Amino acid sequence: MLESMTKEDIQTVIQEIEKREDAWLHKQVLVFYKAWLQYYEASERKDPEISYISASCYKWTFSAYKIKKFVENNCKGEVLNLFAGKNRLRVKESRVDVSNEFYPDYCMSANDFIKLARTKNLRYDTIIWDPPWNERKAKEFYDGKYIGKFTKLKDRVISLLNDYGIIISLGYEITNFGKWRGMDLVRVAVVNPKGEIRPYFISIEKKRQTLEKFIMS
Ligand SMILES: C[S@@+](CC[C@H](N)C(=O)[O-])C[C@H]1O[C@@H](n2cnc3c(N)ncnc32)[C@H](O)[C@@H]1O
Repeated sequence: MLESMTKEDIQTVIQEIEKREDAWLHKQVLVFYKAWLQYYEASERKDPEISYISASCYKWTFSAYKIKKFVENNCKGEVLNLFAGKNRLRVKESRVDVSNEFYPDYCMSANDFIKLARTKNLRYDTIIWDPPWNERKAKEFYDGKYIGKFTKLKDRVISLLNDYGIIISLGYEITNFGKWRGMDLVRVAVVNPKGEIRPYFISIEKKRQTLEKFIMS
């Protein structure tokens, strides 16, 4: 119930409590709701930083030098490359791919890897999310390997991120994970593949601090 409250709901609760004659009896509750409101406001950050990259589009996304560089420059700490494909990055990465063609560290589906990582308590500072972008691309390029809209996978993968960890995702969506999953959009690069296909995006979303930690800090 608490999770589904909007900012306006919280403001209304605060106003209602403050109006009451016995407001002093609810001082602790008021402190909690006010902290929560601050948490919301802290996450309503300014618009993401936008940049523009002109680069050709390849079967293996990071074969485009500028794209590979952009991703490498934005990675931090331990990196999980969940749909690793062919191109190795100059970062500390763990590579997962359902295909064994390029010898990933873990040859298994992203879904199975997430289960494994949870049992081993593995955590990352950066996750790279570059799956086949749509069914057509999957059929054309990756033996038809495609796993739909990834909704459940997206819900689960966030648990592998450390606090303030980031997800760098590539594809036709700007917001891949979203505020409702506790992720704030901090950076977007618009990629213009020079008229070959429609533009796509590289988005960087950052994991928000939990409400509990915010209140304790
Ligand atoms: C867009 S390509 C990644 C390209 C990579 N970033 C590069 O530049 O080399 C997508 C990759 O996801 C892999 N893949 C498809 N379905 C998968 C799944 N369910 N779990 C893990 N990998 C998957 C494909 O085998 C393919 O290598």
